Amino acid sequence: MVDKNKKDFNEYYEIVKPILNNKEFKKRKKFLHHGKVTVYDHSLAVSKLSYCLAKKLKLDYKSAAIGGLLHDFYNNPWQNKTKKTKFFQKHGFIHANQAFKNS
Ligand SMILES: [Fe+2]
Repeated sequence: MVDKNKKDFNEYYEIVKPILNNKEFKKRKKFLHHGKVTVYDHSLAVSKLSYCLAKKLKLDYKSAAIGGLLHDFYNNPWQNKTKKTKFFQKHGFIHANQAFKNS
């Protein structure tokens, strides 16, 4: 069982390696997201979980792994925002579209 899991994560890393090595994606190691968790670590956790669930359910696990990594690939750390914005311009409403465009 351990060998199978190890093999699966080798496959996982082959799928996501180009993104993990991307200069822009690596900047997310310095973006705080939820508490002290960085966007990078959060996205990696979401990606791994999505990959595992998709594999188990015999779904498109490659897209799940990639989508999990890029779902929060927004422009800037939202905590750094000092300018007041309208309600529907706040991070919670716009970050998914930014992530989509950046991906
Ligand atoms: Fe997220």
